[in-house]
Amino acid sequence: MLQIFPDASSIAEHVSSILITKIKSKPDVVLGLATGGTMEPIYARFVERVRQQKVDVSRLTSFNLDEYVGLGPDHPKSYSAYMRQHLFQHLEFDPTRLHVPDGLAPDLEQHSREYSAKLEQTGGVELQLLGVGSNGHIGFNEPGTPFDSRCHVVQLSERTRIDNSRFFEGDAIVPASAITMGMVEIMQAREVLLVATGENKAEIVAEWYRREVTEAVPFTILKKHQRARIILDEAAASRLPADVRKALMAASA
Ligand code: GLP
Repeated sequence: MLQIFPDASSIAEHVSSILITKIKSKPDVVLGLATGGTMEPIYARFVERVRQQKVDVSRLTSFNLDEYVGLGPDHPKSYSAYMRQHLFQHLEFDPTRLHVPDGLAPDLEQHSREYSAKLEQTGGVELQLLGVGSNGHIGFNEPGTPFDSRCHVVQLSERTRIDNSRFFEGDAIVPASAITMGMVEIMQAREVLLVATGENKAEIVAEWYRREVTEAVPFTILKKHQRARIILDEAAASRLPADVRKALMAASA
């Protein structure tokens, strides 16, 4: 299902309220969490609302989608650090229930299998948050990733490394590889919310709309998910066919 909201701020409000409703109804829910610029306003609003409503987050479990290979949890550009900065340090989580892949694991393939197994042991993800790369990647599953892939190590595409270089100032180089949950773990989530905001996502969103399900555009797989929502702001929706855009905007008004 596609939904269009006016801007990133109204999306942040909407997604926060979905998360909070879920946590209130199931305090030990397992959440799948994402990183990236798109998630920043969402986590900021979520933290605000959790504090206002005094929601207990201490029993929830989370699994992050991905991490750069070579960056340990203490590295400022690691996704562990991102999660602490934008979410984990602000609320009373139980740190033993928060999982992010370890980019410094000595045996990354084994770590991938263990991460996947641990996720399975907890019963899998109830609600998965996703962003999308400008090339259609989800997690770090780049175009061409087989749909039957599980948590694994990936070589990042040039496009992704260029996109993400904005988070690496100075001489810091975007790592060449990453560890990511696979397409299988993502599709096993009971519910998925993919958020895309801003003009630079407009082209890939239009491609998602035009194309059949294809490994060339990883997030097209969500067309096969029973409970996936693609949540767009007007800028990200701007290259959808005009009639589709109009109908979706009328539906969410
Ligand atoms: C990164 C992450 C993805 C994220 C994507 C989009 O590559 N691995 O999980 O969805 O970037 O990021 P942004 O929200 O910054 O556009």
